[in-house]
Amino acid sequence: MCGIVAYLGNKEAYPIIIEGLRRLEYRGYDSAGISLINGELHTYKKKGKVNELVAHAQQYNCEGTLGIGHTRWATHGKPDDINAHPHVSGDGKISLIHNGIIENYAVLKKALHELGHDFKSETDTEVLVHLIEEYKKKENLSIEEAVRRALKKAVGAYAIVVMDADEPNKLIGARKSSPLVLGLGDGEYFLASDASPIIKYTNRVIYLNDEEMVTIDRDGSYEIKTIDNEIQNPTIKELDLKLEELEKGGYEHFMLKEIHQQPITVAESMRGRINADEGWVAVGGMKDNLKRFTNAERIILAACGTSWHAALIAEYLFEELARIPTEVEYASELRYRNPIINKNDVVIALSQSGETADTLAALEMAKSEGALIYGVVNVVGSSISRITHSGSYIHAGPEIGVASTKAFTSQLVVLTLMALNLGYERGKIEESYYRRLIVALDDIPNKISRILKLNDQIKYIAGEIRNAHNALYLGRGYNFPIALEGALKLKEISYIHAEGYPAAEMKHGPIALIDMYMPVVVIATNMSAYEKIVSNIQEVKARKGIVIAIVSEGDTQIKEIADFTIEIPATEEPLSPLLSVIPLQLLSYHIAVMRGCNVDQPRNLAKSVTVE
Ligand code: G6P
Repeated sequence: MCGIVAYLGNKEAYPIIIEGLRRLEYRGYDSAGISLINGELHTYKKKGKVNELVAHAQQYNCEGTLGIGHTRWATHGKPDDINAHPHVSGDGKISLIHNGIIENYAVLKKALHELGHDFKSETDTEVLVHLIEEYKKKENLSIEEAVRRALKKAVGAYAIVVMDADEPNKLIGARKSSPLVLGLGDGEYFLASDASPIIKYTNRVIYLNDEEMVTIDRDGSYEIKTIDNEIQNPTIKELDLKLEELEKGGYEHFMLKEIHQQPITVAESMRGRINADEGWVAVGGMKDNLKRFTNAERIILAACGTSWHAALIAEYLFEELARIPTEVEYASELRYRNPIINKNDVVIALSQSGETADTLAALEMAKSEGALIYGVVNVVGSSISRITHSGSYIHAGPEIGVASTKAFTSQLVVLTLMALNLGYERGKIEESYYRRLIVALDDIPNKISRILKLNDQIKYIAGEIRNAHNALYLGRGYNFPIALEGALKLKEISYIHAEGYPAAEMKHGPIALIDMYMPVVVIATNMSAYEKIVSNIQEVKARKGIVIAIVSEGDTQIKEIADFTIEIPATEEPLSPLLSVIPLQLLSYHIAVMRGCNVDQPRNLAKSVTVE
């Protein structure tokens, strides 16, 4: 949520920052802006995407080897040119970009106003740059010291980068609850919200911790201190991220690329953790804490968005395969409702980005109650991966499309492996069933490849229902969360209102909405409640709804009653979500494209939600 990128070195900063902003655009695209120092400070900003900024800035002087850039997801103040970052001090010398929310901005603004500061924007961020200016001038402080003093007054979350035309060889960054990465190049430095704008130049990075500040000097030195001025000894990480992973690779959209990557990403999530020939699974991150896992009185899963849907499926998995009572929580609810968490609980956070503010806060709260906290995360080095006692990366690779696809299936793989591992260790799963599930899991990548071949058929169905205003998704058991996920995918990217429901619950409300204009997507693969779901389809048809059924290959019964069927390979029931979600991802994708929507950057959404 909001992307930050900054450069100090011997190259021209403008092209590096613009390219970086394009890579970070998934974090917000309400406006974009850049400041450069070349003798004096120049700032250009524009409502809309990075392309709008480029069109605007090209008429001006864009020289300079020190610069900062920002792509915004609006919180305080509407998306327009004025509220766009960077924000500049009253004397036009200090420029600042910010990701997060300064919660006490109103009080600070009032006090600064009384001291004679004028504000141009409605943002919380502008207050911070004026506060820095106030300290710098009144107390004759260096920019570094002024930033430190200002941050000590700020309440809330921030990743900021600041530069000052009076000290044109310095770049300052700081973070609290919002991510900031320092890239160490050859005579050049980068600061960014994540490593994607940096990786082209260097793979050596330092992830700043909360309440840390970095001061970079053009002479080649940098220093990291806490905002209380204590010198830190940071660890330099070497990233294993390739530039191609951040490109579309010939696909029209990142989302389509990511849907098609799933045979590979799902296999990557299993690599080294499963052996189908020998019949075992082992999840490395659980090994060190195995006793706490096997003796857990309860597992609590906390997540948001699509990750929360993966958590719902994990509840079925952990309870069925490992027989551990499991609860699923929206992280935002868990953190604020004074829950009962004990030291014998295991709290698992699911997060693609590893940065979601509510998930992070829920974890911190659980940690303080003494629970074991575990992360199932995609982004290596992310905040959640660093605050948890232990965890498992899902290894899906960078996910750029705002609507999550491959991260979801990889989360499911890791959660399935964890449930199998635990069930086996606790002696709660029959050996033959354990082995059958392992063999079936190993075969999932092949089956996903087969489903992807149905693309044209799914595209045709998309064309038939593209003009719907509403849609209903129904599923049962393991596939009830897939109904929720299918509906979420559709509303996120095509702006069609959609609801997911447990199929049997349909008659307690949504049935009232069904008429000849209502597409009803039913996950009706060959599973335990098959006959029941056939009845649900009949109920929809009796009210003239348009039924699109996801069925198992060879199904004949549903084919006769549904308007459209999509046949997918059969698998063991606990693994069926890994297959049934794929056609739903493709269906939403094609509908969104046909409706002319921006698939990768849907309106108002951001990939990484770092504010509450
Ligand atoms: C945002 C994204 C979703 C994602 C959710 C949780 O809403 O648009 O795709 O599922 O955040 O994100 P996380 O990174 O914690 O999985």
